[in-house]
Amino acid sequence: MAQFKAEGRKFSCLTSYDVLTAGIFDEAGIEVILVGDSVADNALGYETTLPITVAEMIPFGRAVARAAKRALVVVDMPFGSYEQSKESALENAIKIMKETGASSVKLEGGERSVEQIKTLTSAGIPVMAHIGFTPQSIHNLGGFKVQGRGDGEEQLIADALAVQEAGAYAVVLELVPQNLARDLTNRLSIPTIGIGAGSGTDGQILVWTDFAGLYPGKPRKFVKQYANLRETLLKAATEYRNEVAEGTFPNADQAHD
Ligand code: KIV
Repeated sequence: MAQFKAEGRKFSCLTSYDVLTAGIFDEAGIEVILVGDSVADNALGYETTLPITVAEMIPFGRAVARAAKRALVVVDMPFGSYEQSKESALENAIKIMKETGASSVKLEGGERSVEQIKTLTSAGIPVMAHIGFTPQSIHNLGGFKVQGRGDGEEQLIADALAVQEAGAYAVVLELVPQNLARDLTNRLSIPTIGIGAGSGTDGQILVWTDFAGLYPGKPRKFVKQYANLRETLLKAATEYRNEVAEGTFPNADQAHD
């Protein structure tokens, strides 16, 4: 990613939580695959990312790491696994790295997470930071709200500089005004990865279920649906059900003598 920034080339990141989609995204040349704690709401049915644990994250991380041949695999440190102390952050990050085979971890927070980032990077663990809207703080932030507007701008700049100084190799900027994200990208030496932060960041990230259109209803403003898998799967499942009911599946070719 540093090389991309140095050469002024953009890179793309997607989340994945399983071996099949990770394999597809890797084959497509997606540079970074994030095993986001968004697996909590996207695969496990939790309402937010808050309940998921390190133990629950690990099998997803392992599946993605096994599939990725070229992409950098990053695993999220879930809520509660790094805030209490730098010691517990290190213990959990080591567990994630050892048991998943991923190359890096991601954690949320700017200035408040500096000690944890320093501890992990000093131990040789590459850390991706995540500032702006941080989903693990959804209750504190009062919902999905753009961060860094008005008085919030100064704090966001301080957070970005703090995570860079602490040793993070890249930083996710989530739900940040586009001009601020562009300015930060110019100001930081580490790559920025935007989600809902406009086109001025070094890289972009999308949650794969958003990108692939698996959710019913209107996607959030910053999402582009590159496919409509929900419609495709719904149509396929309906057709299958009908054919089973009619007795036309399986046909003679699909049966063994
Ligand atoms: O968990 C996740 O999917 C993320 C992205 C929103 C960046 O952190």
